Amino acid sequence: MTTYIADLMASHPGRNFELHEQHLNTQMVRVLKAIGYDRVYTRASGPYLYDDRQNEYLDLLSGFGVFALGRNHPEVVRALQEVLAAELPDMVQMDVSLLSGLLADKLLKLCPDKLTKMFFCNSGAEAVEAAIKFARYTTKREKIVYCEHGFHGLTLGALSLNGEKVFREGFGPLLPGCIAIPFDDLTALENALRAKDVAAFIVEPIQGKGVNIPSDDYLPEAARLCAQYGALFVADEIQTGIGRTGKFWAIEHFGVEPDMILTAKALSGGFIPVGGVAMTSRIMDAVFNRMDRAVVHGSTFSKNNMAMAAGLATLKVIEDEKLVENAERRGGELIAGMRALTDKYELFQEVRSKGLMIALEFGSPRSFSLKAAWSMLEAANKGLFSQMITIPLFKNHRILSQVAGHGMNVVKFLPPLVISERDRDWILSALDEVIADCHKVPGAIWDLGKTLAGHAMKSKAGA
Ligand SMILES: Cc1ncc(COP(=O)(O)O)c(C=O)c1O
Repeated sequence: MTTYIADLMASHPGRNFELHEQHLNTQMVRVLKAIGYDRVYTRASGPYLYDDRQNEYLDLLSGFGVFALGRNHPEVVRALQEVLAAELPDMVQMDVSLLSGLLADKLLKLCPDKLTKMFFCNSGAEAVEAAIKFARYTTKREKIVYCEHGFHGLTLGALSLNGEKVFREGFGPLLPGCIAIPFDDLTALENALRAKDVAAFIVEPIQGKGVNIPSDDYLPEAARLCAQYGALFVADEIQTGIGRTGKFWAIEHFGVEPDMILTAKALSGGFIPVGGVAMTSRIMDAVFNRMDRAVVHGSTFSKNNMAMAAGLATLKVIEDEKLVENAERRGGELIAGMRALTDKYELFQEVRSKGLMIALEFGSPRSFSLKAAWSMLEAANKGLFSQMITIPLFKNHRILSQVAGHGMNVVKFLPPLVISERDRDWILSALDEVIADCHKVPGAIWDLGKTLAGHAMKSKAGA
């Protein structure tokens, strides 16, 4: 039995897509096949994925930001092997475990001083759900304010803080009392808070969808307004935290101290689902205020030893390998290289970034032949052009990336924080080539554009 999983996988080589088509999300299989992403990955290490033909791919998607350490980091693997070998008692439930205490202690030392309590859960969305409940209970208010284009997860509570129609449609009614305001708009925030009936303002310090970076004074002023009107200020650092932006938390760029920080994704090095809420003792003491309420919020697998050990090992690696500093340095180098490309190519309009959270924005060109081709794509489906960057990056240069959101011509890179000079050069030369090809009309990339537009029109007609 010792090689049960290895034997099982070896006896079903490459059946990934067939099995998913049969038993899981068939539409996902169709999407991957349509855009030529139907590779069979067999191995992963650091920022690289390897397929069954031993091709190497540079992964700038990082499992949606989970693999800050890269994949299969040996220190985290060792920590998990240690936990398994030690045959520890796990999830005793009528008990409190050492590893969760140690992780809380370590993580809170990295938070602003006023955050002294920690709640652990199993995902980003669970951290958001906890924040909503904790804010309501602490303030005895119902309303939650969130930002347009924000993303906080897809469970019903978190979805209620998500303005994108495509995610919400058909799943309602969602949570009552959730108010959307524009991001980076203090007047809108003050208007929403003025009646003093808002429990919390939940905001990503830098929005993941589109990588929108607020003005320097936005978050400090938002915190001040929340305090003035008695609402809790909650920073969703699920994507921006754990070094991603070149600081351990993105709030450090803005010198702001929230009442809660939400974390997940990179915290366990990409091995075990995990989430957490760092909060003030006022909030923890309000929610867990009596012995008969000791289990009033929680979930069965939260604080499990594997997640906690992976979290401890991840924080150690981040410190030992100076990955926050690496994110800042490599991010700076990439941006400098990309800015040079925005000067060179009319379709490439802007680069936005903090550390290794990077957005490349494309926009309407000036020259006549490009303009006509661009308009054809925009008419078929707004934001389609971004796939003319991501698909050739993948097919021709083996770089995995993503579009930054629906209806926008923004490509997003979330590289592992461990990327090297070689990876930086790989990214910049591939981008140069792909964007140059986009400026050739007619050309292979615009043939791809026509095919994409055709698919988009067909699926619109079928909708
Ligand atoms: C800012 C933010 N919050 C919350 C979530 C939800 O996290 P999860 O997918 O772990 O539920 C995400 C996921 O992308 C996120 O980016």
